[in-house]
Parts: sequence; structure tokens; C-alpha cells
Amino acid sequence: MGHMAEPNGTLADSFGRPVTYLRVSVTDRCGFRCIYCMTQDADFLPKAKVLTVEEIDRLASAFIRLGTRKLRLTGGEPLVRPGIMALVRALGRHLTSGALDELTLTTNGAMLFKHAAGLADAGVRRLNVSLDTLDPHKFRAITRWGKLAKVLEGVRAAADAGLRIKINAVALKGVNDDEIHDMVAWCGGHGFDLTFIELMPFGGLADEGRFLPLQQVRSELETRWTLEDTDHCTGGPAHYARVRETGCRIGFITPLTHGFCESCNRVRLTCTGRLHLCLGREDGADLRTPLRLSDDDGPLIDALRAAIRRKPGGHDFAIGRSSAVPITRSMSATGG
Ligand code: 5AD
Ligand code: SF4
Repeated sequence: MGHMAEPNGTLADSFGRPVTYLRVSVTDRCGFRCIYCMTQDADFLPKAKVLTVEEIDRLASAFIRLGTRKLRLTGGEPLVRPGIMALVRALGRHLTSGALDELTLTTNGAMLFKHAAGLADAGVRRLNVSLDTLDPHKFRAITRWGKLAKVLEGVRAAADAGLRIKINAVALKGVNDDEIHDMVAWCGGHGFDLTFIELMPFGGLADEGRFLPLQQVRSELETRWTLEDTDHCTGGPAHYARVRETGCRIGFITPLTHGFCESCNRVRLTCTGRLHLCLGREDGADLRTPLRLSDDDGPLIDALRAAIRRKPGGHDFAIGRSSAVPITRSMSATGG
């Protein structure tokens, strides 16, 4: 297929996939040091390389003008970014105008106790909270520094503020595999959706035998729960089922073992202004330079359109695709 026409200025890649979903990493920093995400002594970017809150707003707003309907703020941990609440409120104007369908965040929950109500006020309706265990000791071991009680307080504050919550749990062999039924029951009891994520080889961190195929998680769950497959689809690498006993949804994200690229509608922007067209690829496009070149958005929009046209058809780390190599950049830098 050649370069597709872009009806109404909407961004589409060279395979005709419309790019309607933008994930923006607003910082590479985080209060935690999850074992599968960062080393203990992780280096962080100097401030000059990181986009200002105003620049992030300008970039995201350019995407929205070109047809992005859904925006997710990630990190690192988005809620540790100075000015984050001002950014969320500013981006909320696109919800009010109807240009954006959804503004959401992926958070580790540590600062939610403080910001949940403000997020709801700004128009956020849903949050993904990363939480791999309900055991405070395991939580500390996984995050190195995290306090489970603070996260649970934040989750409660978010639920009280009327936010819908989806818990993201990375499946870790020998760590939380004995807790999956408890997690389903806990999420069911609170009305939260739950997504299991297969461990990915990021940042050169060894998986240390912790890889747990989600096929196995699913089989184990089916010994106790009735999982009804749904055709709910987000254009991402997740499969969803409904738990009949709780009514809640369970997602299974298996980026390594299932092809999902064909329906991919998303791109990722790092906090330095690099646009990653595909999670499994190293290549990207620098949008910070055209952004800083001019107060006018012209150069930025040209660069953005050119980048999207280069979005690859599929990712590199799926088994059976070109080269199954672990990706060297980390999740905290790319923004999940
Ligand atoms: N494998 C799978 N998931 C990861 N995350 C971070 N690093 C990894 C990894 N190596 C997840 C976090 C969170 C989201 C932002 O990405 O647990 O849910
Ligand atoms: Fe922070 Fe999330 Fe990485 Fe954990 S996985 S260190 S919470 S960014």
C-alpha cells in the first residue's frame, strides 16, 4: 500500500492505520525502582533535554489537531513531574472542546492520595495503576522502595473521586504467581479491572527466571473463575475476558508471544521529544528540534507527519519477526 490519503488531516501511517492514540512520557523519573524496569542507581536525564510542561502541551495539542482522540500520560511516574497537574488541567481543555475523547494516566499510585481529586476535576475518568502484589513485603521487594499502604490509600482516593481503575500487574514467576486469585478477588470486590502483563526484556535487565507465560496464568485462573472471552479491543496487545463471578474484566498483555501490530493505532512520545513509532523498535523521530525551531507549529507538524509515515508494520521482538533482540532502552524512558 502506498501513502494513504489523510482525510480531514487525520494522521495515518503508510499501512493506512490511523494514529489516534498518543502515549506521552512526561518524565523518566520515578519514586520506585521496580526490578524489571530500572536498576537501583538508574541515571536520569538532565533537565535541559526534557521537554517543558508547555512544550509537552504544544506537542500533544498538535497531535490532537491531527486527529489523536486518546492521550495517556506515563513516565517514569507522571505524578512526580513538577507541573504535572497544571499540564493535566491544560490538556483537559481538549476534553471540554470535544477534540479529545479521553485523557488518562498510567501511575504507580504513590502520589495518588494527593492528586486523585484534582485529576477527576480536570476531566480524567480512568487510571491505570501499576500494582503487582497485595503483600507489603513483596511490594517493597519488587519496587525496592515502595510502600504498599500509600498506594492503596491512593487507589482508594481515586475510587472515591469517581475514577475508574484498572490494575496492571506484571506476572512474575516465584514472586506473585501465588497471588493471582487474590488479585482477581480483590479487584472484583472493588470493581476494578485487572490486566496481567507478560514480563518484557527491557533495559538490559535480566529476567532472572521470572518470565511467566500468561497462558499459564490464564489456565490457573480458570481452575477457580469463569472467564468469558469478550471482543473488547483497544487496538493494543491485550486480550480481554470477563470474570463471570465478579463482572470485572481481566486483560492479558502478551507482547512477546502474540502478534498485534496489525491493529496498532498508537505512537509514543518520550519526555525528550522523541517519537517512537513502535514499542519494539529502536528507531524514532526527534520532534524536539522542530518544536524548538519556531513558535509556529509548521515545522513540528511537517516532522510529525513525516515520522508517522515511517511507522513500521510490525515490531522486532516478537518471536518469528525479523530479529528477536532484547530492547536496550528501558520502559521508564519510553513510557510503557
Ligand atoms: N515488563 C513488563 N512490564 C513492565 N513495566 C515496566 N517494565 C516492564 C517490563 N520489563 C510495566 C509496569 C507498568 C507499566 C508502566 O509498565 O509495571 O504497569
Ligand atoms: Fe517506576 Fe513504573 Fe518503572 Fe516501577 S515500573 S520503577 S513504578 S516507572
